[in-house]
Amino acid sequence: MTDEQWYFLQKLLDPLDLENNKDFVKDIDAQMGLFYHHAQSPEVTHQIIHANEGFFIRYAPWVTDKYFRFIYMFVRDYSLLDLYRLFDLYTYAKQCKKVPGCFLEVGVANGGSGALLSAIAKDQNKKCYLADTWEGVVKSGEKDTTFSGGEFDYAETEVVLHLLSGLNTLSNTHLLKGIFPDETADKIDENISLIHVDVDTYQSCKDVFEWAKSKMSVGGVIVFDDYGFLGLEGVTRFANELMEDLNYIYNYNLNGHATFVKIKD
Ligand SMILES: C[S@@+](CC[C@H](N)C(=O)[O-])C[C@H]1O[C@@H](n2cnc3c(N)ncnc32)[C@H](O)[C@@H]1O
Repeated sequence: MTDEQWYFLQKLLDPLDLENNKDFVKDIDAQMGLFYHHAQSPEVTHQIIHANEGFFIRYAPWVTDKYFRFIYMFVRDYSLLDLYRLFDLYTYAKQCKKVPGCFLEVGVANGGSGALLSAIAKDQNKKCYLADTWEGVVKSGEKDTTFSGGEFDYAETEVVLHLLSGLNTLSNTHLLKGIFPDETADKIDENISLIHVDVDTYQSCKDVFEWAKSKMSVGGVIVFDDYGFLGLEGVTRFANELMEDLNYIYNYNLNGHATFVKIKD
């Protein structure tokens, strides 16, 4: 693809109506093309990605994985995660069969991704802990750009329990209601093999990680949702700091997940 075609494609795909998104800044870099940032976080830049040759055609294992399809059809209306992030989480959860310890999700809302994790945990004879305030997002601060607290307060534990009941995972799954880790982490007294952190703010990401790091088994996986999303720079900022930690290897898989695998204590 020539530079000219690349610029044309980015312009064509430009998703932002700046009239209605006054906090977002659109700019152009002479070599790299169109990019965006939040007015409060100029160092966290964003672009339309995957706009290269072969853009539209990629390996799609989720189409033929019958077990994933079953879970996905069941949970998709109850999750803010898209198909790709749910499949990503599913893939990591299945691989955690090789790693001792329970599963934990912090940031459950109506339970879509948490229910998915509960099903895989059950297959592995593991417990699954699902932690949320069920009163919305907390701990927003100056490192966050968009969320100010209370978002997703519409979510209900009854909906989550209904989902778990449908997947027959009530027996291995425990709901922890309150701010995590401050109010509920003491209910977990075992090692952890997988954590899905979907909490939307810098401080909540940091607090979950600081609490969990000594409890993670080697080989355990931490998935940060919303990594790289325009408007969720607090999450991106925390995960970028964590990339300096020599106990983990990490990957930004471009679909909105930063994933860290613990390689040593
Ligand atoms: C984006 S939603 C979670 C979406 C969910 N994973 C799904 O599949 O749709 C974020 C949730 O994180 C919760 N939350 C944020 N910070 C938290 C904290 N420190 N402790 C507990 N819950 C928290 C909020 O209450 C909210 O329900």
